[in-house]
Amino acid sequence: MRHITVNAEHEYKVHIDEHFEGVLHDVSQSHSKVFILTTQYLADTYHIEKFLHPIDNAVIHIVSDGEHQKDISVLEGIWQAMAQAGLTRSDALVAIGGGATTDLGGFAAATWLRGISWYAIPTTLAAMVDASVGGKTGINSHAGKNLIGSFHSPSGVFVDLRFLKTLSDRDFAAGLAEVIKVGFIQDEEILNILQSRNTVDSAREVAEELIFRSISVKADVVSQDFHESKLREILNYGHTFGHALEKYSHYEMRHGEAVAVGLVFAAELSGKMIGLKDEIIDLHRSLLKQFGLPISTNVPFGPLLELMRSDKKSRGAMLRFIGLNSLENPHWLEDVSADLLQATYERIQA
Ligand code: GLY
Repeated sequence: MRHITVNAEHEYKVHIDEHFEGVLHDVSQSHSKVFILTTQYLADTYHIEKFLHPIDNAVIHIVSDGEHQKDISVLEGIWQAMAQAGLTRSDALVAIGGGATTDLGGFAAATWLRGISWYAIPTTLAAMVDASVGGKTGINSHAGKNLIGSFHSPSGVFVDLRFLKTLSDRDFAAGLAEVIKVGFIQDEEILNILQSRNTVDSAREVAEELIFRSISVKADVVSQDFHESKLREILNYGHTFGHALEKYSHYEMRHGEAVAVGLVFAAELSGKMIGLKDEIIDLHRSLLKQFGLPISTNVPFGPLLELMRSDKKSRGAMLRFIGLNSLENPHWLEDVSADLLQATYERIQA
């Protein structure tokens, strides 16, 4: 068992290889009431109610799977259930699920009574390495992905590696896109490890090490710049284009799949603007492709440009991206013209 400390608005730990049963038992005993947010599948498969003591002090609230749960109507339902349960400031929420559930649960905790404690038990690779750590919580809206949200760190994150056993190859690979991102921006060793693992099955064998390394980078960056005034933006490598593609697909694409294409886009843009070497650009394609992740798209460019303009990373009318100078050396690409984006897009068209 290993843990990593995050210093945000308060200090908390990410515990790796911690069994969820004990966590639920301890959390339910240390608050007079706990509000569990999870999906029907997880509640049924893992018999969550069995580990809440006493069960009378717990409420299990079921949400649907996937990105569509990050919706104001679902949040409204959570607020109503919290009111019905009489959840007070000293009570806590536990989000058990993928990244959408931890983003939504964290935001429900941030907004209820102006902020109650919450704990994350991520069940997908993407949630373990990215969504559950960092304290950004939120929902989607017509305006864009994650535009409504709050910085509200969990009191603890508990990674139970057993959840990965039932994760599909598609979902595991989607999580690997975030791991690969971390490799390019900050930890080349991740890329070395993955190069010798050319199938999803073989990457699963080193999941714990990949998770530890990815969370370590994230924790370090978030601890230095919790509110994303500058440094933390490097974690958005591949995300401006990725978010646009994900939203265009009406969230049919997994976040990690859209980010995979976004990483290739950001690498190509870096090649054009700051001379990122072709061999590094090619390494993006080969690593992502090796796990069956998409590296190109045929979505029309116009709508993607509009969606990129509404992304959080743009400032005013200027489009800005995180690029790469070389391995482990991210660079801020400012004031990128639409013409250059179009030319870059042509290089990633299917
Ligand atoms: N919830 C993801 C992050 O804080 O970066």
